[in-house]
Amino acid sequence: MQQTLENIREKALAAIQNAQNTDNIEDVKIEFLSRKSELNNIKKNLKDLSNEDKRIIGSLANKIAHEIEEKINEKYQQLYQKELNEKLEKERIDITLPGSYTPYGKEHLLTQTINEIVEIFNGMGFSLVHNENSPEVETEYFNFDMLNIPKDHPARDMQDTFYTKVAPNVILRSQTSGAQIHEMLTQKPPIRVVAPGRVYRCEAVSARKNNLFHQIEGLLVDKDITFADLKGVMNEFIRIYFGSARPTRFRNSFFPFTEPSAEIDVQCIMCHGKGCRVCSGTGWLEILGAGMVDPNVLRNVEIDPEIYSGFAFGMGVERLAMLKWAVDDIRLFFNNDVRFLKQF
Ligand code: DAH
Repeated sequence: MQQTLENIREKALAAIQNAQNTDNIEDVKIEFLSRKSELNNIKKNLKDLSNEDKRIIGSLANKIAHEIEEKINEKYQQLYQKELNEKLEKERIDITLPGSYTPYGKEHLLTQTINEIVEIFNGMGFSLVHNENSPEVETEYFNFDMLNIPKDHPARDMQDTFYTKVAPNVILRSQTSGAQIHEMLTQKPPIRVVAPGRVYRCEAVSARKNNLFHQIEGLLVDKDITFADLKGVMNEFIRIYFGSARPTRFRNSFFPFTEPSAEIDVQCIMCHGKGCRVCSGTGWLEILGAGMVDPNVLRNVEIDPEIYSGFAFGMGVERLAMLKWAVDDIRLFFNNDVRFLKQF
């Protein structure tokens, strides 16, 4: 029996010696010290021995078990340290390597332009309409009917306007002018607002046209408002936006929701009126549409045109940004190429 214990001891010490890693040592521990180990078996069977043997074999078995356990712990510590060192060595961080670069974002030129224009009008007392008064998904009622646009107007054609399948007459707005109606239905005059936002047109994309673009709508309704007020506000806007007073031209035009209507041109900022490629040789750049709010529109929203009058205007954000920053293709705003965007 003593010999058997001695053999176990030797086998265990050799196994500990040979263990190469912490996994091996775990196995050794199970083999020699677990409940099912040979050593434990001997301890369990002590009761069958004489008292004398019980004492000798029992204390020897305990001594060997202790020794094995100590050696295992010792070896485990050694191997664990070794493995840890190897791991640290392998996962070492080279702090001299270049870090990963996080590029800074910035405001899109269109956002900058919208903010700039809205701020100019804020300075003249115009406030920003609430979003719910300027929805992108609209009804024909607000986009056309209430704006005095006849049923057979070509702008209503499927070729010009995106119709949805949500319900008949639900469209993607083709102009921000519907915001005028929403505003006049929720506010009594005096009204002085601007409404920037996206508009959609179903037409062929080119360097000058995109299916999606941005407009800023303006509306002022009060007592005794005349065309002179419109001229003053537009000239002031142009002066601030383009950085200096420039000759402007109010050309007679037609919009169903304004009477009289005008298209406003500014002297070409590239050639100062001499005529160049940008202004197609005319010396003038058309920048916005405007006019006095048509009495029919005021009646539609139950504002008495005998008491109140007003003016409205609408401008294309892309066009204004293109003119100021000499951008020659509208698609550049939507491709999101950072090499373009970071220039502004
Ligand atoms: N909604 C017009 C368009 O998209 C622009 C416009 C013209 C707006 C005259 C106005 C206005 O408010 O008075 O072409």
